[in-house]
Amino acid sequence: MLTKFQRIDLGHFPTRIEYLKNISEELNGPQIFIKRDDCTGLATGGNKTRKLEFILPDVIKNNADLVVTVGAIQSNHARQTAAACAKLGIKCLIVLEQRLAEAPEAYMNSGNIFLNKVFGAEMILCPKERDVKEYAEEIMEERKSMGFNPYFIPVGGSNHLGELGYIECMREIIENPNKDSFTHIVLATGSGGTHAGLVAGKTLYQSDVKIIGISIKDTKSKQENKVFQLAQHCCEYVGCKTPTREDVVVVDGYVGSGYAIPTDGMRDALSLMATKEAILLDPVYTGKAFDGLIDLVRKNHFNSSDRVLFLHTGGSAALPAFEWAFS
Ligand SMILES: Cc1ncc(COP(=O)(O)O)c(C=O)c1O
Repeated sequence: MLTKFQRIDLGHFPTRIEYLKNISEELNGPQIFIKRDDCTGLATGGNKTRKLEFILPDVIKNNADLVVTVGAIQSNHARQTAAACAKLGIKCLIVLEQRLAEAPEAYMNSGNIFLNKVFGAEMILCPKERDVKEYAEEIMEERKSMGFNPYFIPVGGSNHLGELGYIECMREIIENPNKDSFTHIVLATGSGGTHAGLVAGKTLYQSDVKIIGISIKDTKSKQENKVFQLAQHCCEYVGCKTPTREDVVVVDGYVGSGYAIPTDGMRDALSLMATKEAILLDPVYTGKAFDGLIDLVRKNHFNSSDRVLFLHTGGSAALPAFEWAFS
C-alpha cells in the first residue's frame, strides 16, 4: 500500500472485476474479464479519479486557488478534474485543444463540455496554431498577475503523482476478493500515465502479468518510450526497482486516421460490448482499445487458457458528443 503518500477520497474503490461471459463465448478465445474503472464514482467515473486522488493533495499543499489543466475538447480528464475541484472548492480552468479538423457542433458543445459547465469550470479554447501547454502557461501568468495562485495539472494527469493511482489499481487487481489471477491486462494508452502506473505497480508488486497498451494516438515506439520514461520516473519517486523496457508493450494498429476519429472497428467493439454485456465504451479510448483486444483474440495472440483483464478506463460521458459517428 502507498500509505506514505497523501491521498484524498474522491472515488469508490476497489472497482469491480466482472467476467464478460457473453463476449468470451462469442469470441471463443481466452476468458475475458473487465475492471470497472468506468465506475469510479466521480462525475460518471473514469481513470482520472484515481490520479486526482494523489494529485490534489499537492494542490492543497501548494495553497493553490486555481487548478489549470489542458485536454482535447471532449477530455474526460478535464471533466473529472472540474468535478474534483468543485468538491474541494477550488476554481478550475480548462484550456481546450481542438484536435479534430472538422468538429461537429455536438462535439464542441455536448458530452464533457456540457458537464464541465455543470461543474462550474471555466473553459478557454486554445487557438489552432498555438501549443496548448505554452498557451496555458501564458494564461497562468495572467492569472498570477490578477492575484491567483495557479497549479498546473498536465494532460491526462500523467505525472509521478497521478500514476500512484494506477499502482494502487494494480494492487487491487492482485488482491482482488475472488482471488482471480490474470495472464494479461489490456488497456487504452494515451497520455500514458495509466499504463505507466500499472507497469510501475507490476514492478513494485513483482507480478508477471503481461500489460498491453492499445495506442489511441501515437505510434508503438513513440508511445512505448513515453510510457517507459513515465514508469521509470514514477518508480524512482516511489523508491522501488525500475521496470525494464520489455515491460512496456504497445500495440498501435487501431487508431485509424487519428486521435478521436471514429473507426469501423471501434463502432463494432462498442456495439458488441453494449449488446452482449450492457456496458458502454467510449469512441476515443476504450472503444478503440477493445477493438484491439478483439483483434488480438482473433489473431490467436492469446491461448484459450489465458485470462485477460480489460481495464475499462471510462469515457462514456462523451458519447452524446459522438452521435454523428454512429449514424
Ligand atoms: C476514457 C479514457 N481512457 C483512457 C485514457 C488514457 O489514459 P492515459 O491518458 O492515462 O493514457 C483516457 C485519457 O484521457 C481516457 O479519457
